[in-house]
Order: sequence, then structure tokens, then C-alpha cells
Amino acid sequence: MKEENIIKPNNKEVVIGTIAAVFIALGLLLYALYEPQRIDNAQKEQLSMDLRDAMVTFAKNCTLCHGMAGEGIGSNPPLNTPALRESDSSALTKTISRGLFKTAMPAWSKEDGGPLSDYQIGQLVRLIRFGDWQETKQVVAELGLTPLTPFAAVVDPKIIEELKRLEGGDVLAKGVTLFAEKCVACHGADGLGTALAPALNDPKVREKPVDDIKRTLLLGKPGTLMAGWENILSSEQSDALIRLIKEWDRVPAGSIPIPQSPIVVTKELLAKGEKLYAANCSQCHGPDGQGRGRRIPSLNVKGFLTKTNDAALEQIITLGVPETPMPAWGDRMTKEEIQSIVGFIRSWEPTAPEMAEPVRGGPRGRGGPP
Ligand code: HEC
Ligand code: HEC
Ligand code: HEC
Repeated sequence: MKEENIIKPNNKEVVIGTIAAVFIALGLLLYALYEPQRIDNAQKEQLSMDLRDAMVTFAKNCTLCHGMAGEGIGSNPPLNTPALRESDSSALTKTISRGLFKTAMPAWSKEDGGPLSDYQIGQLVRLIRFGDWQETKQVVAELGLTPLTPFAAVVDPKIIEELKRLEGGDVLAKGVTLFAEKCVACHGADGLGTALAPALNDPKVREKPVDDIKRTLLLGKPGTLMAGWENILSSEQSDALIRLIKEWDRVPAGSIPIPQSPIVVTKELLAKGEKLYAANCSQCHGPDGQGRGRRIPSLNVKGFLTKTNDAALEQIITLGVPETPMPAWGDRMTKEEIQSIVGFIRSWEPTAPEMAEPVRGGPRGRGGPP
């Protein structure tokens, strides 16, 4: 009989076959269901890698003007705004690639003479739209790229008064004030230059024709940090700056100081500073900076902390106080270690007492509050 030739599966085989088919179907279904999530995870991973790269690019190129956390510095606008988060990515790409003509915002794409590839610019756009600015701030601090100088310095009003007494001094004084406000962060104290930009207070620049200096100032130098200032400065202001550059030898040295630079403190830095302080300073200055009577000054006291800025603290600790027991730490600690101690000492300021209550006992004695 024909029917007998057909191999009939027994019941067991049917069950196993069915179960197997069901498993395969389920597997396929699950695969199909989780596929979008898999892609999603891969995309998320790519995004977080891009964001991390972007934070480093930002630290190296943008922090100087837009701040460590995109908060903006001086007249440079913030990038951490809700409006920019929602803005169109092609518009952002264009702004960053080409810069903003006749403003301090330089062009960044290689095509426009800048240092960044299109891929890096794409990453920056993602940072502005999706990134975490607090994390960016950490990255900037870890890389040691905290802007060394805020954008503006303050000129002593007495110096301005003195300048005004010179012949043509009004214009010179205006130039000095503007330079301290807008140029000192790059061109340095007294215009003597920094790692970022050349000296302007220099005979070689002084000898250049006014028209050359003016062209650079107003139109910038494409592909460098020197932006065009035409839209920012009035013609009276740019004339005052050019006068300053041409006549800098008439301005007394020290007129335009290095701006104060507060040390940016992260949790890690603070913890490090606390440890270093306990190991190296507390035996003299007391565990909480109380000092030890007349011999060793207290550090944790309002008067001292308000009058001593971070740069000054860093300098005292680095150089020590010659011919006193206060050692110079510069040759046994790194700059970063010293800054961490400054950050730790600074953290006392909000709760510092008006009057110190010194610890008793000699430097290496047991001390402890009375
Ligand atoms: C030398 C200072 C400077 C540097 C460095 C700088 N910018 Fe700018 N940026 C500016 C200024 C100034 C403006 C505002 C220009 C205007 O509209 O007047 C600006 C504007 C922008 C804007 C537009 C903001 C808005 O609200 O529309 C974006 C985006 C931007 N910058 C991104 C960047 C990125 C990314 C970097 C680093 C690759 C960078 N900038 C580096 C000065 C700077
Ligand atoms: C963000 C940094 C930055 C700021 C802010 C800045 N400059 Fe510059 N400036 C530069 C750099 C970098 C150069 C060198 C460009 C080059 O490589 O040719 C330069 C060059 C110049 C030059 C040409 C010097 C020469 O040797 O011929 C002049 C003039 C000048 N800047 C004036 C100013 C003035 C005035 C201001 C303030 C309104 C200012 N700059 C603000 C970065 C800056
Ligand atoms: C051997 C004892 C000793 C040690 C250790 C020591 N100091 Fe001092 N420190 C002094 C003395 C003494 C002075 C006062 C010097 C003077 O007469 O002006 C001083 C002054 C200072 C001042 C200036 C205070 C003021 O009122 O002007 C600072 C800031 C300071 N020390 C920080 C530190 C830090 C931070 C450490 C640890 C890295 C440290 N010191 C370690 C003895 C010490």
C-alpha cells in the first residue's frame, strides 16, 4: 500500500519537531524584537565615544573662549544653552566650520584654514546638542587645560590717571583699558606675549605701518586664534588699541597685570590636596590650618584668605618664605600637587573664622586644639 511507504513520524518525533520549530520561531522573534535595541546600543556606544573625543577637542580649542563647561567667558557667548541644544545640526556645523565673519569666532574646518577635520566638527556638534557639560569641565581639568587666565584683567585706576596726564594720554589710557579687557588673555600681561599669541609690546610690531596693524586687528589672521575685531570694536576703540601698540614704550611696565586665575577644583583634586596638606603642612600650620601662635601663621582665617588670591598662594607655597621655617615646595612637588593644596586651603574660606585659634605646641608636637 502506498500509504505504508510514507514514513510516518511517531508521536515523539512530532513533539520534538514541533518544539524545535517553536524554539526556532521564538528565537527569530526575539532576535527581531531585540535587533533595534542592539542597533540602539551600538549607536549609544558610538555616541558616547564621539562625545568623549569631542570633550577633548573642545578642551584644546574652545575652552579658552567658551569656558570649561561651555558657560561663556566675557563677551564670548555660552554654548550650553537650551536654544543651541535644539538648534539644527547643519547650522551648527556651518558656524563651527566657517566661523562667524568679523567676530572673534574663528573658522575651524581644514577647508577654511582651521585645524579640525569634518569628523571632529561633527563630534563637536553632537557635544553641543547632546553632551554633558559638567563632564566636559572634568575633562578640561584633567587635561590641565583650564584657561590660565580669565579673559579680562583690571588696570589700577591710579595708573590710568597717570597715563591720562601724558600728552595724548587719554587715547593711550583707553587703549590700555581695552587691551586689559579684550586682548590680555592671549597677548599677555603688558602685551609681552604668551604661549597662545605673540608679543605686541615689541619693537618689531611697533615699527609696522599702522595700516598693517589695523588690517590684522580688524580682519584677523585666518587659521589662527587671531580673529577679526571689526564688528566688535568701534573705530575709536580700534584707533586707541593701535595707538597703544605703536606707543607701548611710553606705558610704564606693570600697568597691565596678569589676570587673577582661580584654580578650578575637582573632587579628585580636593582629595589629593587634603592628603598632601595632612602629610606636609599640618605639623606646622595645624590640622585645620589654625597655625601655632606667633611662630607659624594660621592659614584658615578670613583676613588671610580674602586678601590672598590663588596665584599668590601658589607662589608662596612654591617659593617658600626665605629665611623662615617655611620651606619652598616647588622642588619637591609638582605644580598640580601645589595647586591641589591651594584648592584645599581655599575650601576653608566660606567657614574661615575672623580670628584664628592657634594650636598649641611646637611644630612637631602633638598640638591639637586647646
Ligand atoms: C577666540 C575666541 C573663540 C574661540 C577659540 C571659539 N569661539 Fe566660538 N564664538 C566666539 C564668539 C565671540 C562667538 C559669538 C560671535 C558673534 O555672534 O558675535 C562665538 C560663537 C560660537 C557659536 C555660535 C553660538 C550661538 O549662540 O549661535 C558656536 C556654536 C561656537 N562659537 C562654537 C565654538 C567651538 C565648537 C569652538 C572650538 C572648536 C569655538 N567656538 C571656539 C569666540 C570663540
Ligand atoms: C584668542 C587669542 C587672541 C586674542 C583674544 C587676541 N589676539 Fe591678536 N593675535 C593672536 C594670535 C595667535 C596672533 C598671531 C597670528 C599669526 O600667527 O599671524 C595675533 C596677532 C595679532 C597682531 C599682529 C601682530 C604682528 O606681529 O603683526 C595684532 C596687531 C593683534 N594680534 C592685536 C590684537 C588686539 C589689539 C587684540 C584685542 C582686541 C587681540 N589681538 C586679541 C591671538 C589673539
Ligand atoms: C616647618 C614648618 C612649616 C611647614 C612644614 C610648612 N610651613 Fe608654611 N609657614 C611656616 C612659617 C614659619 C611661615 C611664616 C613665614 C613668615 O615668617 O612669613 C609659613 C607661611 C606660610 C604661608 C603664608 C602665610 C601668611 O600669612 O603669609 C603659607 C600660605 C604657607 N605657609 C603654606 C604652607 C603649606 C601649604 C605647607 C605644606 C605644603 C606649609 N606651609 C608647610 C612654616 C611651615
